[in-house]
Amino acid sequence: MSATELRIDLGRFRKDVEALASIGRDPTGGISRPAWSPAHEEGRAWLLAQLRAAGLAARVDPAGNVFGRLGEGTPVVMTGSHIDTVPRGGPLDGALGVLAGLECLRAIAASGTRPARALEVAAFTDEEGRFYGFFGSRAMTGSLDPRLAERLTDPAGLALPEAMRRAGFDLARAPEARRATQEIAAYVELHIEQGPWLETESLPIGVVEGIVGIRRFRLTFVGQPDHAGTTPMDRRKDAFLTAAEYATKSRELVVRGGEGRAVTTIGVVDVRPGVSNIVPERAALLQELRDPEPAVLERLAARTLQAARRVARRRGLILETEHLMRAEPVRMSPRIQAVIEAAAAHLGLPTRRMPSGAGHDAQVLAAVTDAGMIFVPSQGGRSHRPDEWTDWPALERGANVLLGTLLRLAG
Ligand code: HGY
Ligand code: MN
Ligand code: MN
Repeated sequence: MSATELRIDLGRFRKDVEALASIGRDPTGGISRPAWSPAHEEGRAWLLAQLRAAGLAARVDPAGNVFGRLGEGTPVVMTGSHIDTVPRGGPLDGALGVLAGLECLRAIAASGTRPARALEVAAFTDEEGRFYGFFGSRAMTGSLDPRLAERLTDPAGLALPEAMRRAGFDLARAPEARRATQEIAAYVELHIEQGPWLETESLPIGVVEGIVGIRRFRLTFVGQPDHAGTTPMDRRKDAFLTAAEYATKSRELVVRGGEGRAVTTIGVVDVRPGVSNIVPERAALLQELRDPEPAVLERLAARTLQAARRVARRRGLILETEHLMRAEPVRMSPRIQAVIEAAAAHLGLPTRRMPSGAGHDAQVLAAVTDAGMIFVPSQGGRSHRPDEWTDWPALERGANVLLGTLLRLAG
């Protein structure tokens, strides 16, 4: 059989997706495999066993990244994604890219085809940023900030170094995961769209043109604790109400100044002392801003911080700010986009070029190699929730486009 007639084995692929989805799943169907957690480490061990069973050379690097390799020599053509999840996430975000990559390498190995270049499938650590977004891909590409990593905690206050230690890893060694730029000839990632556009337009395949930039930061409004019953309303320095006034102002500012594209989310609110009969002394907000244009992202970040300072000053409170993570907006490689389109056309699949409002490891890889992404539709645009889903024929089409793309890139 010629390489271009090669296809994935849907039965094998489906078994892997269902097996991984059962690791970290709760009785209501939500899947939780936060980075470095016991469920995540169970997923890592399962993946390593699958890679080895497929006859691939499997290894884990000091940043916890898992690699499976077919063939010898460098540079390699790499595919992959992540197996860590958001809390109570779905079965496909990240897992699809890793398991489709595994299935592609398995199908190539079984066919006896020997591409000119070696192929690797990667599962990068903490893509979701429980602690440090894109931790694993940053470590591999040398863009980790060890001082930042030292002080990051998860929303429950667990520190990254401790979480890694419990999983048997040493944060201090993570930078050893760095690979030379010339080791990677290209990177292509298959991922669910996590939005509604492909389904709305009844398109089977999306070719990602660019990925949004992300700014993630913590704003802490510091007021003063007071008796909730005896303190008159005009004498309070209520940290929560100040934070709430800021939050609505920040949304207006992003909607007005974001040219209809920028988004902002405050997903964590921590109010202290956190009892009902003390006026809140501190209110910490974990906020992120996203936009595909660097200049717009910078402008909105500056404006939203100014708004926070203004609100705090007017109410006589102090504002503490802490930068937590930034990922730059990137353009995907035109070369890789063209290869994906050729692979899809060969399968008779129509495509459209589109942006990604979600962040991905591909935006970190884009700094060191030609990177591209393939999207498949998400039912109802749903993701980061237990009912995230894409049906098997759509997943099979995506995995076969990935297979055709890898074979073209690996010669
Ligand atoms: O948050 C994101 O965009 C991705 O799911 N990590
Ligand atoms: Mn993802
Ligand atoms: Mn995600």
